[in-house]
Amino acid sequence: MASSIVNVPCNVQAIKGLDCQNYIGLRPSRNLKFNCVRTGTTARRPRLFVVRASEKNDGPVKKMGLSDEECEAAVVAGNVPKAPPVPRKPAAPVGTPVVPSLPLNRRPRRNRKSPVLRAAFQETQLSPANFVYPLFIHEGEEDTPIGAMPGCYRLGWRHGLVEEVGKARDVGVNSVVLFPKVPDALKSSAGDEAYNDNGLVPRAIRLLKDKYPDLVIYTDVALDPYSSDGHDGIVREDGVIMNDETVHQLCKQAVSQARAGADVVSPSDMMDGRIGAIREALDAEGFQHVSIMSYTAKYASSFYGPFREALDSNPRFGDKKTYQMNPANYREALVETHEDESEGADILLVKPGLPYLDIIRLLRDNSSLPIAAYQVSGEYSMIKAGGVLKMIDEEKVMMESLMCLRRAGADIILTYFALQAAKCLCGEKR
Ligand code: PBG
Repeated sequence: MASSIVNVPCNVQAIKGLDCQNYIGLRPSRNLKFNCVRTGTTARRPRLFVVRASEKNDGPVKKMGLSDEECEAAVVAGNVPKAPPVPRKPAAPVGTPVVPSLPLNRRPRRNRKSPVLRAAFQETQLSPANFVYPLFIHEGEEDTPIGAMPGCYRLGWRHGLVEEVGKARDVGVNSVVLFPKVPDALKSSAGDEAYNDNGLVPRAIRLLKDKYPDLVIYTDVALDPYSSDGHDGIVREDGVIMNDETVHQLCKQAVSQARAGADVVSPSDMMDGRIGAIREALDAEGFQHVSIMSYTAKYASSFYGPFREALDSNPRFGDKKTYQMNPANYREALVETHEDESEGADILLVKPGLPYLDIIRLLRDNSSLPIAAYQVSGEYSMIKAGGVLKMIDEEKVMMESLMCLRRAGADIILTYFALQAAKCLCGEKR
């Protein structure tokens, strides 16, 4: 089931909900009747049921007058029937220079000359099935708008969340990733709330799975929403983020999420060795079927600003440069890739998205695993802001940015545009 952002000149809706009942270009025939024929059993062949199309009810073939032979004979005899004349050459505007045509044997524009040809030769497809919808949740009853991310809300986990997921499913987005806004009083330096089986995320997972059993739920594995320091790991008194002790906590967090019903746990913390440790912890608890999407190449990026406002998770001091990667580095992404692959990651993620297309392509070319791209909060907000200020066409830029992430090599895209873009792909007017 693929859809495209090109508008093909036809009225067939490309996608219709999840149980795609509509087929492009296929129409069930009213005339065909199917008969079930039972074959006899022989020594060499067991009895088979064969389905044959019957033409009994096809109705009479319409008669137009002359037979095929008479038509052919007429043409052979020189009585060629009339067809429309060859169209005249369209005129160029007055003043167009008259020049000899360039002696080119390759004119790539030929393959771009009509919408049908362009659609036929399109190399990359974009479908709601490629999207993972990140959702912010909180304990409140109401949905609270997020100032720095127009159109995004901290959703009440009992109502707003369930409604938003329902809307996404209606347009073919059946994967979500949850980010909790944790009450300050539950934050601590070791982030122990992260593995509370009755915490906000496990409760939300249980509720969603109860309502939508086939929904694919991704979770974020990192301590920052639960850390009183706003860091992804445990902070030592000298400011060092403690690696192995953090990994110990992350394993408990991942297992707790799996126990609640998470399908894919996604460590976004960038500690060393966490993929192998989490795999082992999941397996030890009987969660062999739970996947790990590793934030393999996660850069220390300023594009995360709006997200940290959304969750109130700004680091209380310093930055995340001792664990997230230096935006200047390319080869280092391969070090992380090889590590995550050998430790058992199922999906490799690159983050941010659009400014890091080269890294997406690097991972695509160096790993056979599925690649995910995260179009982060700052990328989203820039497009939204540009659209609101009428500096760019928001919808077109949104679709182009998503298509480009796919072209660079991303199989799936985590994007706050998931619902809006899927509506667009389904031909729904805003
Ligand atoms: C933290 C986390 C962050 C994002 C996803 N998980 C922020 C950070 O690393 O500080 C950012 C997502 C976004 O900006 O949209 N574990």
